[in-house]
Amino acid sequence: MKLAFITGITGQDGSYLSELLLNKDYKVFGIVRRTSLLYSHTRIEHIRHKLTLRYGDMTDTTGLSNFIHNIIQTHPEFEVFEIYNLAAQSHVAISFEIPEYTNDVDGAGVLRILEVIRTLPTSIKNKIRFYQAGTSEMFGAVKETPQNERTPFNPVSPYAVAKVYAHYITRMYREGYGLYAVNGILFNHESSRRVENFVTMKIVSGIKNILNGTQEYIELGNIDSKRDWGHAKDYVYGMWLMLQQPHQEQQPPEDFVLASGKTQTIRTFVEKAFAFKGIRIEWSGEGVDEIGKDAVTGLTRVKINPKYFRPCEVEFLLGDATKAREKLKWTFEYDTLDKLIEEMFITPPHPPHP
Ligand code: NAP
Ligand code: GDD
Repeated sequence: MKLAFITGITGQDGSYLSELLLNKDYKVFGIVRRTSLLYSHTRIEHIRHKLTLRYGDMTDTTGLSNFIHNIIQTHPEFEVFEIYNLAAQSHVAISFEIPEYTNDVDGAGVLRILEVIRTLPTSIKNKIRFYQAGTSEMFGAVKETPQNERTPFNPVSPYAVAKVYAHYITRMYREGYGLYAVNGILFNHESSRRVENFVTMKIVSGIKNILNGTQEYIELGNIDSKRDWGHAKDYVYGMWLMLQQPHQEQQPPEDFVLASGKTQTIRTFVEKAFAFKGIRIEWSGEGVDEIGKDAVTGLTRVKINPKYFRPCEVEFLLGDATKAREKLKWTFEYDTLDKLIEEMFITPPHPPHP
């Protein structure tokens, strides 16, 4: 029996990863946060009946520990138990508003799980594999281009600083205690399941609203930063591959970058997304006065609002995933921004419920 526990199961990546693992015959467990709303798990509603969910929070050591112990005790014959730590306060801009909470969840939360694993009996611990959801944000104000597994980190947000801690504590538990614990360093990945406070879905959804007459224009912050975008479905496959590396004492598992190897500005994303709906955007003005107009109608469709600027910005990200392609044989289906944009436009945000 193959077991998997996913923190962050209700998130974009958690939902795709759950689908992938269920298709591979894993028994999948996850924690969900208590909220005042009963049905806030729309991304996993279609597979909810196949999942074992329990309330939990990355800030609550006891709950995490009880759940992990309970899974082990009730499945004594398990072959492998994979733990994917995807839970995070994952919004970079919001991390400047709630830095302490972000640190607690994204940084200390990882340590809480690692400690539960470390203190298990050796015979059980040896069958556990841990994945930590690291991020290209850790490269921050980048020190070299493209960024790979050897590029030094230079984080510039509370989110990224917490993730750097998570990265090193995961590595330390691997090297110091021999745990099978790996860091994925994943560049931006999006999908039709992204929420609208990330820039890609904000643009896609803004265009849909403009076309149905409920919104006049989209307000954005820095449109000249560059991102290396892929599709979440391809990236969760890479996470799974990272936990399938051979485990030998002399050859501990390794960390991997997942990236598309292409970088584009937010401005290009805007132009391509409007173009998908047959609208050409023409830019005029500068700085906060810059606007994007529909080249045919002359109507303003994009404005700059400084409220979306960040105290520190990651201006440029471009990943090199050669190691993952060569060692893990990782491949990705969504190899252009156009394909990604098309999927974001045409797929409904939530899979149909059974
Ligand atoms: P997401 O959609 O924001 O999902 C985050 C998940 O974490 C949700 O399930 C959320 O639960 C859960 N969560 C948040 N705070 C929690 C807490 N205190 N206790 C327990 N669960 C909590 O993020 P994502 O895009 O799927 O990303 C998954 C992971 O990969 C994150 O760690 C993110 O930082 C990392 N990452 C993402 C990208 C990317 O481009 N998407 C790139 C690199 C790394 P609720 O549903 O209750 O909010
Ligand atoms: N969110 C947002 N909203 N971003 C905007 C806006 C806006 O209105 N206008 C411009 N941007 C710019 C941001 O300043 C940033 O440079 C870029 O668009 C991308 O922002 P996000 O979509 O919020 O993503 P992110 O790159 O900050 O973070 C995502 O990728 C990381 C991996 O590099 C998140 O998924 C993180 O969790 C992930 O670690």
